[in-house]
Amino acid sequence: NRGIACLSALSETHQILQKTCRDFANAELAPRARHHDREELYPAEQIRRLGELGLLSVAVKEEYGGSGLDYQAYAIGMEEVARGDAAVSIVMGVNNLFLGAVQQHGTEEQKQDFLVPYTQGAHIAFYALSEPGNGSDAGAASTTAKREGDGYLLNGTKAWISNSKEASGGLVFATVDKALKHKGITAFLTSKDVEGLSIAKKESKMGMRASSTCQLVLEDVQVPRSRVLGAPGDGFKIAMQSLDCGRIGIAAQATGIAQAALELAVDYSQKRIAFGKQLSRMQLIQQKLAEMATRVETSRLLTWRAAWLKDNGMPITKEAAMAKLHASEAATYCAHQCIQVLGGMGYTTDLPAELYYRNARVTEIYEGTSEIQRIVIANAVLRELGR
Ligand code: CAA
Ligand code: FAD
Repeated sequence: NRGIACLSALSETHQILQKTCRDFANAELAPRARHHDREELYPAEQIRRLGELGLLSVAVKEEYGGSGLDYQAYAIGMEEVARGDAAVSIVMGVNNLFLGAVQQHGTEEQKQDFLVPYTQGAHIAFYALSEPGNGSDAGAASTTAKREGDGYLLNGTKAWISNSKEASGGLVFATVDKALKHKGITAFLTSKDVEGLSIAKKESKMGMRASSTCQLVLEDVQVPRSRVLGAPGDGFKIAMQSLDCGRIGIAAQATGIAQAALELAVDYSQKRIAFGKQLSRMQLIQQKLAEMATRVETSRLLTWRAAWLKDNGMPITKEAAMAKLHASEAATYCAHQCIQVLGGMGYTTDLPAELYYRNARVTEIYEGTSEIQRIVIANAVLRELGR
């Protein structure tokens, strides 16, 4: 039964991980989140500590320097880190997205060059799929990969690339033949310090401001054939498969933001007196808390279910999309309601309700918008139940 096994108590390993991450988030992430957000500061020290804790490579095998845990552990870690500072969790999420693709599709040589160095925080990776002209329509990539000698020459611009400012390398998706549509897309591993690769515009964002998001420009970037991940033309499937796993991470991130918003709303409602009694004793406020708590719980269950399916070798495309869709909308909802419970204080930067809202909002956009998740889910449902 798909539903029941993931509802059993967390294993001892998962419980220890959850407590370690929660303590770390309370002590080292939450107190600095506001500062990093305001100054758009990359949280280098916090990322280093995540590396030490094994959180930058949770599901990577130990033989490659990873923690050797599973996706349930990844979901637990992401939620707790995001509860402390969601911007830190997206650095972690993109690194894990990259590592997942390399672990699954890389040759032994590629794993030594692009898995091992990126597991413990010494190096951070980017994942460059989107372009200025196409984000949702990922199969329409216009960055080109032209055969030259024993390798390829990459040309084009990738957009919205998280971690790209600080990264040492990453994955670039480009087409070997645009006429082949998605079947031409190929995944290339590259270091960032290669000739022709540069960082252009850094986006100024509403939230997640401690995480860099830049355009990546490729001008005659040489990539040897040995750095093609998978086979030429496999890139779209590699992207989709790694995003299936990545969406578990974003669902967990959104759950963490929603949980933080709920905790703040509960705390404030018990302290604030209006009309001679605590806000928490008013039924209209209780209605908001009940709705928030229920959405946090359903988000976590959907996320853990998708992780459990992944850990047990089952298909996850629909379930990961459901978890990401539900949890991201729950995060925006909870952050919105948190501001409402706090009244005017929710609208100031004295308390983090507005930060939760700004950070939550993008979870409905990246790694596939809510509309895209609905398309993925509907396609699966129609296949399963349709005639
Ligand atoms: N796993 C494996 N294969 C898959 C797949 C999956 N999940 N989804 C689709 N495919 C395969 C199909 O089976 C099909 O294979 P064939 O060619 O053999 O028939 C092929 O891929 C094409 O499938 P579709 O016709 O369904 O593809 P499409 O062009 O209609 O696009 C889409 C489908 C779901 C809309 C997809 O383009 C998509 O997910 N778009 C969103 C892009 C996205 O999420 N970007 C995130 C960028 S990274 C990021 O944002 C990082 C961050 O968080 C910070
Ligand atoms: P569009 O695709 O132009 O969509 C615009 C609107 O139209 C959306 O509401 C969308 O849902 C809707 N729409 C599009 N197609 C359909 C359809 N068929 N049916 C119904 N509605 C539709 N990308 C990376 O590759 N790597 C990264 O590291 C990365 N990090 C990011 C970090 C941030 C902070 C942000 C904001 C984005 C990041 N992205 C990254 C890009 C992100 O994945 C895209 O923004 C996202 O996939 C949407 O693409 P788009 O912005 O081009 O919107």
